[in-house]
Amino acid sequence: MPEHVRLEASDGVMRVTLSRPEKKNALTRAMYAALVDGLDRAERDEAIRVVLLTGSGDSYSAGNDIADFRNAEAAGGVPGGGATEFGHRILRFPKPIVVAVNGLAVGIGATMLLHCDIVYAAESARFRFPFVDLGLVPELASSLLLPRLAGYHRTAELFLLGRFFTSAEAREIGLVNRVLPPAELLPQAVEVTRAIAAKPVQAVAQTRALLKGDLAPILAHKAREDALFAERRASPEAQAIFAAFLARSSS
Ligand code: COA
Repeated sequence: MPEHVRLEASDGVMRVTLSRPEKKNALTRAMYAALVDGLDRAERDEAIRVVLLTGSGDSYSAGNDIADFRNAEAAGGVPGGGATEFGHRILRFPKPIVVAVNGLAVGIGATMLLHCDIVYAAESARFRFPFVDLGLVPELASSLLLPRLAGYHRTAELFLLGRFFTSAEAREIGLVNRVLPPAELLPQAVEVTRAIAAKPVQAVAQTRALLKGDLAPILAHKAREDALFAERRASPEAQAIFAAFLARSSS
C-alpha cells in the first residue's frame, strides 16, 4: 500500500504529511492508525518538541473516507472508525501542534484544527463542516469548541448550512491564525515550529496545559457526540447519502 501518511523528524519537529492527494487526502482507517502511531512516536521521543501537520497536493484533508463511513467492517467495527482513537489522541496530545492548511479542509480535516495550537492557512484553502448534509452530527467536540471560538450563531450557520468558507472567514472566527500566499505557507509554518521547538520545553508544556484547561467536560461532550454520530452513521438517511456520493465517484 502506498504510504498515505508521511512522517519526517528533524530539528525537534515531527512533520506529518497527509499524502493521498488523488482522494483529496480523505482519511481511511489505515491513515488514522498511521496518524495515531505518528503522535505516539512524537509524544515518546524527547527530541521531538513540536508536530507540524500538512497535506500534499491541493488539499489538506477532505475528511473521513466516505467508503469507510459506509462500511462498518472497514471502520473496524468501531462506531467512529479510526477517527475515534485519533480524536482521543489529538485531544490529549501533550506537545504543540502547528498546522499548515494547504487546501481543502473538510469534516475532520477542519474539526481537528480545534485541537491544534497554531493554524496557518493558504489563501486558497477552503473549509467546510458537512455533517448535517451527510446525515451526521459534528464530532471531535467541535459542537462544544467551535461555539467558544466563533459564538453560537456563526457556528450554527456553519454547521446547519454546511457551506464552504474561505481562509479569511476562518481567520475571522478564530479557527486560523494567519492567511498566507501558498508559496509562503510551509516556510512560515516551519519557521514557527522551529521557534517553538527552541523554547524551554517544560514552560511550553505547562502553558499549553493551562490553555487547554480541564479536558473532562470536553471528553464528556465528545462521548455524547460519538454516540449520536454512530447512530446517525448507521441510519438509512446517512447511508443513502454515502451511497449517492460513492456512486457519483464510480460513474
Ligand atoms: N471520501 C472518499 N473519497 C473522497 C472523499 C471522501 N471524503 N473526498 C473526496 N474523495 C474522492 C472523490 O470521490 C474523487 O474520487 P474519484 O477521482 O475516484 O472520483 C476524488 O477524491 C477527488 O474528489 P472530487 O470530488 O472529484 O474533487 P472536487 O475538487 O470536485 O471536490 C470535495 C472535492 C472535497 C469538495 C468533494 O470531493 C467532497 O465533497 N468530498 C466529500 C467530503 C466529505 O463530505 N467528507 C466527509 C466529512 S465527515
